Amino acid sequence: MNFLPLIEAKRDGAALTPAQWQEIVRAFAHGHISDHQMAAFLMAVFFRGLTNEETRTLTLAMRDSGETLRFPDDPRPLVDKHSTGGVGDKVSLALAPLLACLGFRVPMISGRGLGITGGTLDKLESIPGLTTQLAPERLIAQVQAIGVAMGGQTETMVPADKLLYALRDVTGTVPSIPLITASILSKKLAEGIGALVMDVKFGAAAFMRTRDEARALAHSIASLAAECGVKTRTLITAMDAPIGRSAGNWLEVKESVRCLEGYGPDDFQELVVDSAAHLLVLTGKKPELAAARAVSLQCLASGAPRTKFNELIVAQGADLDAFHCQLALDHTAPVVLEVTTSEEGFISRCDARIIGEVVRDLGGGRMTKESVIHCAVGVDMLAKLGEPFGIGSLLCRVHARTRSEAESAAARLRGAFAFSREPHEPAPLIAEVI
Ligand code: URA
Repeated sequence: MNFLPLIEAKRDGAALTPAQWQEIVRAFAHGHISDHQMAAFLMAVFFRGLTNEETRTLTLAMRDSGETLRFPDDPRPLVDKHSTGGVGDKVSLALAPLLACLGFRVPMISGRGLGITGGTLDKLESIPGLTTQLAPERLIAQVQAIGVAMGGQTETMVPADKLLYALRDVTGTVPSIPLITASILSKKLAEGIGALVMDVKFGAAAFMRTRDEARALAHSIASLAAECGVKTRTLITAMDAPIGRSAGNWLEVKESVRCLEGYGPDDFQELVVDSAAHLLVLTGKKPELAAARAVSLQCLASGAPRTKFNELIVAQGADLDAFHCQLALDHTAPVVLEVTTSEEGFISRCDARIIGEVVRDLGGGRMTKESVIHCAVGVDMLAKLGEPFGIGSLLCRVHARTRSEAESAAARLRGAFAFSREPHEPAPLIAEVI
């Protein structure tokens, strides 16, 4: 394929035809377009944007770049949740087993860490023995048997997104509304779901910096999803501070298990419970949100989703004994360092962008497409907005591979926090629902 004229056309702001989009996706998925040409093309798309028609064709071509899931008839609705990504965003890990316990089938296809935001697959793979590479037949059988599976794009499922996602990550082309829409919906449409709850984040550590941009992305996803027959509810949520008290792959798995055992933290639990509640309403299982929230909370408190989490990871090859041994450890990284305050007052800022960058630089995220993830590193025991602090109180702990990396991370992390003399109420996490 001679790709150069299409790069030039997009650079100059032309809309490509459906046939051209299908050919681009097909050729790239088959290795007939080089990464350097695709990188230039993605940058042209980033600056020029796509028409609705182009976004739709790209999404469907990406969906069709591999196999799609076909489930047998079953009274349990097929649903999923997806987030545009944030720091400490481990919601899927607790939500997926909760949804299975609420009577849904959840064929969750997730992504890897992108930019400074973590990825569900990287987190899951910090569980000893667990695989996220599930062939479609295995994924379907697992969902039918236990209600939930959490896998990634494979060579056979949405392979075009797998390749594009990795390239966008290292070429500064992530925060593009049409590219995010196509990336997310290609995976969700390939799952064959009927309802989707989206978490579109805005703020310091989100791809979408402002609430207006997040709303534009939410509308882009919701309208294309509706055209494709998927009912969608979008939560627009703040991503200025990390979710929960930990960021880093294994540390977030640990915190998710704690959430499933009823220990919150509140912001994390709120997102889990509200996402489940919206799906209950969207699928008609509950008539209104307050009742749906109550049912979701009750289910979480019953302990069934914690048991379901074990069932899920065992089905995906995890070694349960090794997992529980690892859970019992305080840390798995070689070095842990406490970061304490030299001021007093109330926490008025906990900058998720700085924290995400620190975790990435400790080895918890990717600098290049080939980067190896170190799942033990990260931060935990993070102070939350509004909490009162005296001099010498713990702001967070750093988990690192070496002492010098821990010390340089600690110095940067101190700069992530600010204090005020007066107590203040943090802004609501869920800013609006579309
Ligand atoms: N999540 C995805 O799956 N794709 C994106 O492009 C961004 C977030």
